[in-house]
Amino acid sequence: MSSSSSFCPLLYLLTLGFVLHTSWAKQRSLAAENLLVITAATEETDGFLRFMRTAKEFNYTVKILGLGEDWRGGDVARTVGGGQKVRWLKKELLKHAHQEELVIMFVDSYDVIFASGPEELLYKFSRLGHRVVFSAEGFCWPNQRLAPKYPTVHTGKRYLNSGGFVGLAPDLNAMVQQWKLKDDDDDQLFYTKIYLDRAQRTKFNMTLDHRSRIFQNLNGAVDEVVLKFEKAKVRVRNVAYDTLPVVIHGNGPTKLHLNYLGNYVPKAWTYEDGCGICDNDLLSFDDVDEQDMPLVQVAVFIHQATPFMEEFMERLTTLNYPLTRIRLFIHNNVVYHERHIHKFWKQHKALFPDAVLIGPEENLQEDRARNMAVEACKKNQDCDYYFSIDSSVALTNPDTLRILIEENKSVIAPMLSKHGKLWSNFWGALSAEGYYSRSEDYIEIVQGKRTGLWNVPYMSQAYLIKGSVLRSKLSKVNLYEDPSMDPDMVFCRRIREQVTFLSQSLSSSHVLLPGYHFVSHKHTQGVFMFVSNQDEFGRLVSSNNFNTSRLHPDMWQIFDNPLDWKEKYIHEDYSKIFKDPKSFVEQPCPDVYWFPTFSEKMCDNLVETVEDHGEWSGGSHKDERLTGGYENVPTIDIHMNQIGFEKEWLKFLKEYIAPVTEKLYPGYYPRAQAIMNFVVRYRPDEQPSLRPHHDSSTFTINIALNSKEVDYEGGGCRFLRYDCNVESPRKGWSFMHPGRLTHYHEGLPTTSGTRYIMVSFVDP
Ligand SMILES: *[C@@H]1O[C@H](CO)[C@@H](O)[C@H](O)[C@H]1NC(C)=O
Ligand SMILES: *[C@@H]1O[C@H](CO)[C@@H](O)[C@H](O)[C@H]1NC(C)=O
Ligand SMILES: *[C@@H]1O[C@H](CO)[C@@H](O)[C@H](O)[C@H]1NC(C)=O
Ligand SMILES: *[C@@H]1O[C@H](CO)[C@@H](O)[C@H](O)[C@H]1NC(C)=O
Repeated sequence: MSSSSSFCPLLYLLTLGFVLHTSWAKQRSLAAENLLVITAATEETDGFLRFMRTAKEFNYTVKILGLGEDWRGGDVARTVGGGQKVRWLKKELLKHAHQEELVIMFVDSYDVIFASGPEELLYKFSRLGHRVVFSAEGFCWPNQRLAPKYPTVHTGKRYLNSGGFVGLAPDLNAMVQQWKLKDDDDDQLFYTKIYLDRAQRTKFNMTLDHRSRIFQNLNGAVDEVVLKFEKAKVRVRNVAYDTLPVVIHGNGPTKLHLNYLGNYVPKAWTYEDGCGICDNDLLSFDDVDEQDMPLVQVAVFIHQATPFMEEFMERLTTLNYPLTRIRLFIHNNVVYHERHIHKFWKQHKALFPDAVLIGPEENLQEDRARNMAVEACKKNQDCDYYFSIDSSVALTNPDTLRILIEENKSVIAPMLSKHGKLWSNFWGALSAEGYYSRSEDYIEIVQGKRTGLWNVPYMSQAYLIKGSVLRSKLSKVNLYEDPSMDPDMVFCRRIREQVTFLSQSLSSSHVLLPGYHFVSHKHTQGVFMFVSNQDEFGRLVSSNNFNTSRLHPDMWQIFDNPLDWKEKYIHEDYSKIFKDPKSFVEQPCPDVYWFPTFSEKMCDNLVETVEDHGEWSGGSHKDERLTGGYENVPTIDIHMNQIGFEKEWLKFLKEYIAPVTEKLYPGYYPRAQAIMNFVVRYRPDEQPSLRPHHDSSTFTINIALNSKEVDYEGGGCRFLRYDCNVESPRKGWSFMHPGRLTHYHEGLPTTSGTRYIMVSFVDP
């Protein structure tokens, strides 16, 4: 044997040629050019475009049958049908009847992706040693009674699926030429009968790919497949048979799982290169004049009392998009917010001359309002995009519209989440009941550890839809109305399930068989919903603890919406204290520091709140609000606990004052506790000044709440030990000084107007 070992490959080929048909033997040397992929598609659905993208990735040669033709093959996602595909194939294969070296693979396209290329496919095909190979699955469909007629298999899936098969051209041709049925007859039943006929099975040398070496049908096998991350590509591994299938088919109700896999396979997202599909097909508006930008219908929905509404409305005017190309639609169903809409309208009416405003008095239901807005875009041929945004969205990125439009997707949402939380505006997966289910990658996407474009089953609160898609694939779809479900749920479901194949009425032969348990699913892959987290777009505002009976309820949002609170109420220069203390912290007297703290808004809202509340202390030594009932240095004041703001105030001390203290008094770590937190009012005819005193605090902060020379004259503070006066307080700036021992101080007289300060005795 050893002497002949050098002839082994030849011997192997000869043996093979002897055993197999001669034309088959030659196939061992077939190169990728000898493979033709044929698919059938009537429409360029998003699923089809994905299929073509993965085919291109591997340079498959693809022949598409039926594009632009009307589908008459029944609603295959719901019931039997698909005969039309066989009729087209029959015609096409005639052209290849005598190409003995040609390998043809037929695959569906809407719910199929390629995970690897032609070489691997051909290699695996030849290893299977048959001339025709069909994909296999665990369900016997469409006629369960045929199940016992199938040859038994020891391992692997037993039943034929016609969504994918590969074979030599002459054999496939001979097989398919037998088709004489109608367009809405079942293709799978046709192939099944051929396979189950022993004579035909032998004649065409047919087998099934029982162990998913080439074809992975996902139905009934979702738990058998996992993503296999390689460096610059991702594959699907079948862990039941330890195979790496080449063609992944989301048959039956597994469309959403295919979408999940398709977010990675083959290179949609990889560890090495990140998003591999984000820069495909981008639209560019760099050279487009403002007046030629796409027209966007922006629909705003206010359906619950929401914090930071003024800021929300203001952002509509600061979008980095020509406002002349925006048509505004506002549905406000909340009486409380009418003041914000009116204010916005008074200021900005001129910017949105064609705006439609619908107030709570119209009593319009949410689903009707959403429908009305989207229909307005659908019916207007000039409406290029529809952008829906709910009041819960803080869209802080002014470029959002432009970024989303450039992605050129049918439906796309900016990824948004509640600050520091996993609560977001999308779901990565759907539970069996159609509700939220956490996908394996959900957390990484929300936290921005994986960035890209994600095909998801649910999105809400802000999204962009192409007007052309509304007028084509979604033209007959009522996107929001369904009395049994919330409009957001209805919307996503209608998008997921919109019928791509407009089926004819089903004939009686299509009565569904018992045991076919996924009939209610009909995800047709016409329109995909993508969520993008490539950019930071903003966040979701929480409305859970929003108490509109307060005068300025946003002030209380420091816990629930800390970023919005900061943007509204903290001085814009506050953070510069840490970056550039020399410019933003002053020291007017020894160890008395002075720095920006509150925004104008905070000063005003706080003063208005205490004035609205009233019940100022009388300025006498007797003070029932204190534990001892005695105030040593009485002022005319209102304590934070009187207005129910103590918890929020202490949070403010911890978040914003303690870090400054640590910076300015190094080595001292404040507990940031305080019992005495109050607004003081100085007036010439009431209490103009305060006699010298110490504070019962480790350190005191004293924030000016209004402006000298505008609101009052005089005022200020004098530190006696240093003979140092601070006479020009700045609104929103805080003094910080030690409370006891060294900083004996007095309040200088206010000579006219009213002066307000906020005082807090920290770490008493
Ligand atoms: C057909 O397939 C069988 C395996 O079932 C194989 O043994 C046989 O060689 C094949 N026949 C031909 C003619 O290719
Ligand atoms: C596909 O073809 C192009 C050009 O012919 C080539 O550059 C590329 O490497 C090929 N890709 C694969 C995966 O074979
Ligand atoms: C944008 O998408 C449409 C439809 O999906 C496609 O036909 C078109 O080529 C895309 N545009 C660009 C610039 O890629
Ligand atoms: C809401 O605010 C009102 C008035 O400020 C207050 O009396 C009430 O306790 C608050 N409700 C809640 C749930 O905090």
